[in-house]
Amino acid sequence: MMMSEYYTLPLAVIGLIVIILFLLDSIWNILQTCRALLSPLFLPAEETSLLKKYGPWALITGSTDGIGKAYACELAKRGINVVLVSRNEERLKKTAEEIETKYMVKTKTIAADFSLGQKAVDTVKEKLGVLPINILVNNVGKQYEYPMYLSEVPEQDLLDIISINVGAVTMMCRAFIEDMKKRGSGAIVNVSSGSELQPLPLMTVYAATKAYIKSFTAALRFEYSRYGITIQHLAPFFVDTKMNAFSKKLQRNGFLIPDAEEYAKYAVMTLGKMDESSGYWTHGIQTFFTKFSPVWLRTYVGAHINLNLRKDYLLNRNKQ
Ligand SMILES: NC(=O)c1ccc[n+]([C@@H]2O[C@H](COP(=O)([O-])OP(=O)(O)OC[C@H]3O[C@@H](n4cnc5c(N)ncnc54)[C@H](OP(=O)(O)O)[C@@H]3O)[C@@H](O)[C@H]2O)c1
Repeated sequence: MMMSEYYTLPLAVIGLIVIILFLLDSIWNILQTCRALLSPLFLPAEETSLLKKYGPWALITGSTDGIGKAYACELAKRGINVVLVSRNEERLKKTAEEIETKYMVKTKTIAADFSLGQKAVDTVKEKLGVLPINILVNNVGKQYEYPMYLSEVPEQDLLDIISINVGAVTMMCRAFIEDMKKRGSGAIVNVSSGSELQPLPLMTVYAATKAYIKSFTAALRFEYSRYGITIQHLAPFFVDTKMNAFSKKLQRNGFLIPDAEEYAKYAVMTLGKMDESSGYWTHGIQTFFTKFSPVWLRTYVGAHINLNLRKDYLLNRNKQ
């Protein structure tokens, strides 16, 4: 028997096992998504079950715009009071009034800038006082202004991206998880991004911070889920928000790129039902097919998408 024939069978068996495990994982994820999205249609009580399951107060970071604001509205729709945290006092006040009038829940606003690191977390804790937080949504995130090479990104922007995307998520979890543990219940949602699925040239640091969130959240779940705490990792693909203001292509909301309200409507339905989710059904399909290809191919495709977005952005900027 030739050496290569000797190895063929074991290698084929290993390959088959890997494919079966991958398919089982993906099918399980699809089944969980179907359950999360369909159950409110057949079980109307599901609409209020987050309130019953976790309690009356949620805190959402980055909640005066985009996904954070829409997520806060979805929670308020279910009777949950919301603490809104962003930088701008005026926008906070306006958003809080909007939510109170529309959903008849209580709100609290806290102005804090997460690029300031632990200082922002301390401000949040101080302003909250003894109010217990039952659901913590670490949504705030910072992205490049447009796709850039590392040396083009202003130094302060890079530091802010790391402070906000890595520092704030980590320190906010640390600040609230012990109380949740003592109460034996709670939920933490850490918002990552589809960019975590591979290295992403021209958004190098942003994607790396999101890969951190993925790893951090999975390990945190292992540490704390035994205390009755749900720890969810939410990884959207493109959503039409001002974060993508650099590209007109990413603002055509629709089938693949929902607006924040449409996205949050589905994302909240997955809370308490899925530990990991893209939060939106077409994003789930994109995640499924992305994972089929090798990482080097995803990196190559991601780089080309970003090169094209950069070209469009620079062309438009030069026209103005
Ligand atoms: N949009 C997408 O395509 C997409 C895709 C994947 C993942 N995500 C992730 O989803 C999350 C939300 O993104 P988004 O697109 O909804 O963002 P967005 O529309 O840009 O909204 C950002 C929110 O965060 C607040 N904020 C910004 N910087 C802050 C800071 N330093 N401290 C405190 N608050 C701050 C903003 O209010 P103020 O300016 O008033 O502070 C605003 O309320 C992020 O983690 C992002 O990485 C987004």
